[in-house]
Amino acid sequence: MKGRIPDHIVEAVLSRVNIVEVISEFIPLKRAGRNFRALCPFHQEKTPSFMVSTDKQIYHCFGCGAGGNVFNFLMQFERIEFPEAVEALAKKAGVVIPENLSFGAKEPSGITVQLQKASEAAASFYENNLSTPVGTHAREYLLKRGIPQEAIKTFKIGFAAEKWDALINHLRSKGVSLSLMEKAGLVVPKEGGGYYDRFRNRIIFPIFDVKARAIGFGARVLDTSLPKYINSPETPLYIKGKNLYGLWLSKDAIRDLDAAVVVEGYLDFISAFQAGVRNVVASSGTALTAEQARLIKRYTHNVVMVYDGDASGQIATIRALDIFVEEDMQVRVVSLPQGYDPDLFIRKNGIARFQALIADAQPLFDYKMSVLKSRYNSDDIEGKEKICSEMLPTIQKFRRPVVKSEYFKKLAQELKVKEEALLQEAGLFHAAGKEYLRATSTSLGTQKSIHPIEKFLIKLMLEEDTIIAELKDKLEPDDFQDERTAKIVALMFDCVAQGKGIEPSKLLTHLGDTESTRLLCESTFLPDISGEKRDKILTDCVQRLKAKKLSCKRQRLQEEIKDAQESGDEERLHTLIAELDELIKTR
Ligand code: GTP
Ligand code: MN
Repeated sequence: MKGRIPDHIVEAVLSRVNIVEVISEFIPLKRAGRNFRALCPFHQEKTPSFMVSTDKQIYHCFGCGAGGNVFNFLMQFERIEFPEAVEALAKKAGVVIPENLSFGAKEPSGITVQLQKASEAAASFYENNLSTPVGTHAREYLLKRGIPQEAIKTFKIGFAAEKWDALINHLRSKGVSLSLMEKAGLVVPKEGGGYYDRFRNRIIFPIFDVKARAIGFGARVLDTSLPKYINSPETPLYIKGKNLYGLWLSKDAIRDLDAAVVVEGYLDFISAFQAGVRNVVASSGTALTAEQARLIKRYTHNVVMVYDGDASGQIATIRALDIFVEEDMQVRVVSLPQGYDPDLFIRKNGIARFQALIADAQPLFDYKMSVLKSRYNSDDIEGKEKICSEMLPTIQKFRRPVVKSEYFKKLAQELKVKEEALLQEAGLFHAAGKEYLRATSTSLGTQKSIHPIEKFLIKLMLEEDTIIAELKDKLEPDDFQDERTAKIVALMFDCVAQGKGIEPSKLLTHLGDTESTRLLCESTFLPDISGEKRDKILTDCVQRLKAKKLSCKRQRLQEEIKDAQESGDEERLHTLIAELDELIKTR
C-alpha cells in the first residue's frame, strides 16, 4: 500500500501538518476538552460521535468505527489512494517530493496535459463560434428552448459549424497535431486516410471535470434528426463512467445542502441549475455507475433521483437505486408525469413545483414497490413471487442488518406473506438464518468484537514506550486473541526494538489494513486511567490475557480429546492427555 514513498517523506509530512487544521477544512470541528468533535462525515448521525485528537493526530468515530491519521482521512473523504493523499498534504506542508519519485498517483503525464490543452482549445473554439454569424441558428434554437445568454456563458455552451474541417484547421493553426486531436476524440480518421471533425452542425455542451477542466463534449442536433447526441469517445481524459455532467458547478451546493439531485440529460441539468436548483448533476445517458455514485458521495450521502417520466427512465432509476444502496447512500425518487423530463417540467410548471416534487420524493422502497405493483398483480401468487424476486436483491444490498430486517418486515406486510417465508426465499433462513436473526436483534455493527482487555492494553502501550518494553518480556503478539490486535502489538514491539517512536499517526502508515487502523484509533480514545490504578489494571490485564489463552488452549485440547476418544485413536489420545497435563502444570 505504501508504494515507493520513502518513510522519511511520509513522516516529514505527518510532522508538519496538523490533522485538526486539515479536517476542519472539510467539516466543522468543535472543541471538546483535549479533543475536537464533529458530526461524522462517513455516516448519518444526529449527535456528534466523530473525534479528532490533537495529541495523537488521529480521528475516530464511535458511531461507525471509521478512524485513522490525516492520510486516512483524506483517502476516505476524497476517495483517493495513499500516494495521492501524501502528495496533496506534502504540497500543503511544503515538503518537496524529489521529482524522480514516481508515486503511482495520477500525476498528469505528458499526454494528459497535451490532451487537456487540445480539449480546452476546442472548447474555446466552439464557444466562440456560437457568438459569430455561423452560430445564428444555434442561438435561435437555444433561445427557443428557453436557454438565456447568461446560461450559455455559465455552461460555456458552443456550436460546431457544418463543415468537415473547421476544428481541424483551427487547432492546426494552434500547433495541435492531428494524432493528438484524434486521441482527444475531436476528429475521426477517414477510410482513405486523413481526418474529419467529429462534431458538425451541433450545439456543443463541453464536459468539465470537478476541477473545471474540459475533458469531453456532448453534441446535440438542432432538429429532430438522429442520432440526437454524439458524445466524445472515451479518452485517457474522459472516462464516461467516472464523470458526472455539471459537478464542477454544483459540488459546493451539494456539500452545503447535503443532497444531490440526479437527472439524466445535459438540458435537464442546465434548466434545473439555471432555475436555481444548484445541487444538481446529470448522469448523461449512460447507466449510472458505482464510480459515479462514489463521486457524489464525496460531497453527500443523500440523493434524489429525477429521471425522465418514461419507461426507460423508470428502468434506469430502478437500476441506479441498487447502486446507491450498495454505496450505503440514502436515495429517494421523484416520478415525473409520463412524457416529462425535468427540463420540460420546469419550463411548464415552474421551479417552485419542481422543488416541491424534490421535497416530496418517495423513499426508495416505496418507489420500487409502487413500480413493481404497477407491473405485477400483487394479489396473485405469481405476482407476489415476481415482486419478491425483484425486491429481495435490493433489500439484501442494505449493509445494516437492522435496516434489512425492517425492509423484510415491510415487504412481508405489503405482500401479505409471512416474514419467515421471505427470509427463506432470500436464502437467509437456512444458511445463516439463525445468526442473521441474532445479529439483527443485538448489534448494528458487522465488525467482529474485540475483548476490552486487548483494546485497553493497546491504549496503554501507545501511551508509554516503557510499557511496551515491560510487556515485551511478558507477552507475545500471539497471546492476543484477535489477529488485528496481534498485528498492532507486533508492529509496536518492532518499532521499539528498532528504537523508533510509536506515535499512533506514524504507526498507522505501517499498518495498511483498515480494520487494524480503526482498532488502533478506537483504543487511543478510550478513557484515561492514571497512576497506581493503571499499574494494577495493567498487571491484571496481562494475567487475564495469559489465562484466557490457556483456557482456550485447554478447551481446544479437551475437544480434541473427546474426538480422539470417539474415534478410538489411542495413540493420539495419549499425546493429547500428556499435553493437557503439561498445560495444567504450567498454570
Ligand atoms: P433534450 O432531448 O434536448 O431535452 O436533451 P436531453 O439532454 O434532456 O436528452 P435526453 O433526456 O433525451 O437524454 C439524456 C441523455 O442521454 C443526454 O443528455 C445524452 O447524454 C444521452 N443521449 C440522448 N440521446 C443520445 C444519443 O442519441 N446518443 C448518445 N450517445 N447519447 C444520447
Ligand atoms: Mn430531455
